[in-house]
Amino acid sequence: MTFKVQRMLVTGGAGFIGSNFIAHVLEKYGAVRMVCVDKLGYAGNLENLSGFLKSEALGFEKLDICNEAGMRTVFERERPDTVVHFAAESHVDRSIMSARPFVESNILGTQILLDLCRQFQVQCMLHVSTDEVYGALSPGQAASLETDSLDPTNPYSASKASSDLMVLSYVKTHDFPALVTRCSNNYGPYQFPEKFIPLAITNAIEDKPIPIYGDGLQVRDWIFVRDHCEAIWRLITHGKTGEIYNIGGHNQPTNIEIARQILTMLGKPESLLEHIKDRPAHDRRYNLDDAKLMAETAFKERVSVAEGLRHTVAWYVKNEPWWRRVKSGEYQTYYERQYVSRK
Ligand SMILES: NC(=O)c1ccc[n+]([C@@H]2O[C@H](COP(=O)([O-])OP(=O)(O)OC[C@H]3O[C@@H](n4cnc5c(N)ncnc54)[C@H](O)[C@@H]3O)[C@@H](O)[C@H]2O)c1
Repeated sequence: MTFKVQRMLVTGGAGFIGSNFIAHVLEKYGAVRMVCVDKLGYAGNLENLSGFLKSEALGFEKLDICNEAGMRTVFERERPDTVVHFAAESHVDRSIMSARPFVESNILGTQILLDLCRQFQVQCMLHVSTDEVYGALSPGQAASLETDSLDPTNPYSASKASSDLMVLSYVKTHDFPALVTRCSNNYGPYQFPEKFIPLAITNAIEDKPIPIYGDGLQVRDWIFVRDHCEAIWRLITHGKTGEIYNIGGHNQPTNIEIARQILTMLGKPESLLEHIKDRPAHDRRYNLDDAKLMAETAFKERVSVAEGLRHTVAWYVKNEPWWRRVKSGEYQTYYERQYVSRK
C-alpha cells in the first residue's frame, strides 16, 4: 500500500535521529509540512534543526509529550496525518543511574501520544524502537526476528519494550494504525557526545582518553543514521500498519575495532584507549534479521561502517564549534536566543 504523507508530527525531532530524519525528509522528499515537538531535555539541541527553522515547511514546539493539554493544542492546530515518535530518554547509562525519567517519557509519554493519535484519527503512527528490546545474543546465536520474545536487560530497554507493547496493544485493541520499528545502533552527524562513537571522536581530537567498557569486544550492528531515516520513510509510505519491522545495519564490528578505526582516521595513538569497568548487565551482542523490511520496501542500500565512519569523523572535525557548544553546555541557550529574545 502506498501512503501519501501531507502533515507530519515528529516527536523528539531536536535529538540525534529525529533531527536527521527531519533533514532527510525535507531535503529528499519535500512537500510535507512537518512540526517537531521536543521538550529540549539535555539531549535535545535546537541547533540541529537550524537550517530548517526559518522555512515554512517546519514548525517547532518546545513541549513535553507528557503534557497532554499542550500536546492536544498542537494536534488541534496541526491535524497531522502521520506521527513519527522518536521522543525518549535514550542513554542506557543514565537509566542505570535513574530509571524514573525513562518510565515517564518512554512509557507514559507514548501512551499519551497514542490516545491523542486515536482521538485525532492519525492515519499512520510510527513508533521508533530499538534492537535492545530483544536482549543480548550469545555467540553464534541467530539474528533476532520480529517474532522473537522480548528480553530487555536494563531500565532503558525495559522502558522501550514496554512502550512497544503499549503500541501493539492499541493495534490489537483499537485497530490502531501503528508500525513499530526496531533499529540497531545508529551513528552519524549530530549525535550527542555522551554516546560511544561521538565521544571517541571528540575525545581523540582533544587527545583525551577514549573509555572502553571491559574488554571492548561487545558487538553492535552499526547503522548510519541516514540509512535508518530512509528506512523509516519507506515504512511510512510502503509498510503495513500493525506490523513490526527490524532495521539493521549489516555491520558487526566490536567496539574496540570501531575505536581503533577512529584513531587511525584521526592519526592518533592507540595509547588513548582506556579500558574501564564494564557496565552492569552489559549486553554482549545484538544482531537483527531485517529480511522483512527488505522484502516489503525494497530497502537495501546501507553505508558500510568504514564509509560511514569516515563521513562521521569528517563531520565532527568540520563542526567542532557544534560539539564544543554541546560539551560546554552553551547549546542549551540556543532556543532562548532564537525564540524568547525576539518576543
Ligand atoms: N541512538 C540509537 O542508536 C537508537 C537505536 C535504535 C532506536 N533508537 C530510538 O530512537 C529514538 C531517538 O533516539 P536518539 O538517539 O535520537 O535519542 P536522543 O536522546 O538524541 O534524542 C531524544 C530526543 O527526545 C527528546 N525528548 C525526550 N523525552 C521527551 C519528552 N518527554 N517530551 C518531548 N521530547 C522528549 C529529547 O529532548 C531529545 O531531543 C529513541 O526513541 C531511541 O530509543 C535509538
